[in-house]
Amino acid sequence: MKALILVGGFGTRLRPLTLSVPKPLVDFANKPMILHQIEALKAIGVSEVVLAINYQPEVMLNFLKEFETKIGIKITCSQETEPLGTAGPLALARDKLIDETGEPFFVLNSDVISEYPLKEMIQFHKSHGGEASIMVDEPSKYGVVVMEESTGQVERFVEKPKLFVGNKINAGIYLLDPSVLDRIELRPTSIEKEVFPKIALEKKLYAMVLPGFWMDIGQPKDYIIGLRLYLDSLRKRTSSKLASGTHIVGNVLVDETATIGEGCLIGPDVAIGPGCIVESGVRLSRCTVMRGVRIKKHACISSSIIGWHSTVGQWARVENMTILGEDVHVCDEIYSNGGVVLPHKEIKSSILKPEIVM
Ligand code: GDD
Ligand code: MG
Repeated sequence: MKALILVGGFGTRLRPLTLSVPKPLVDFANKPMILHQIEALKAIGVSEVVLAINYQPEVMLNFLKEFETKIGIKITCSQETEPLGTAGPLALARDKLIDETGEPFFVLNSDVISEYPLKEMIQFHKSHGGEASIMVDEPSKYGVVVMEESTGQVERFVEKPKLFVGNKINAGIYLLDPSVLDRIELRPTSIEKEVFPKIALEKKLYAMVLPGFWMDIGQPKDYIIGLRLYLDSLRKRTSSKLASGTHIVGNVLVDETATIGEGCLIGPDVAIGPGCIVESGVRLSRCTVMRGVRIKKHACISSSIIGWHSTVGQWARVENMTILGEDVHVCDEIYSNGGVVLPHKEIKSSILKPEIVM
């Protein structure tokens, strides 16, 4: 079985992290987003993953070469010379997706995180006999706000609605028969706007409500929520992967090569990546600390993302959606309230309100 992952797009909403690597390679829960997907595909027997790419293909392929053998899956690239949208790349990769078996293939948006119930999706696809299956999420799992878009004024707040007009969210995970490819021309085109509506009209499109959690982690706020959902789910499935101890609160993932000093309080909803050094007396909650970061004594970080190889000085306070790009250095005793800091910067004075530091 084959799969295609849509990895185009510039990932602008996840800057400054995507100034260092393409969005699918941004770490989530201690490994690049795309590895979560590739591992899930491998687990249900996918033998080849095609990356539909239009931006920095070398970076991506070099990185993934290592994992091809580790995971035991073939990873190839289908490169666009112009962005082809969400459907055009399927036409471009047509020959890679079709094989003698005539089996359906998976298509995934690269920035969605879930328990990937792909086995269930195959069952579902076989059961309905249509041409395409899409996974949908139910906003009924959440509170829904009906608002006036321009002013933000809330008209209605409905907690976990039961009855609502057409409110299933496309989760960006599809299983398509090869015949779907006959519907797609080789030009920039959108699968959501041009392909699915037609298949739906012919009553050959089926939607399966996704069990478990789901999140599009393509922007910082959702990324941080996504980590909470992911760790919750990990707690239910394989809680042994989570950290434990008197210094741990709630769900915390710590890479085995990271070190944590005395008297820290870590959690809830924290991921600490490979090689990180967390010195004594540090307080971390609702945050991601990526590979190679050093957090000095008594620093306090909440609701933030600390990019690769950055340092946070002692007694510094970093909070409210602060996003540090790669190799940022926050000096001692600095306060960051929602600072978005570009790679390789040194922060010597406090950031008092949310702003971009270039
Ligand atoms: N190869 C390629 N070429 N990929 C692309 C291109 C392109 O020109 N444009 C976008 N993509 C990829 C993105 O990298 C991403 O993986 C996927 O297509 C969807 O693009 P996003 O930019 O993340 O779209 P969205 O999040 O606003 O909306 C989509 O995802 C939602 C769920 O997360 C849509 O599919 C929505 O219907 C869906 O609800
Ligand atoms: Mg998205």
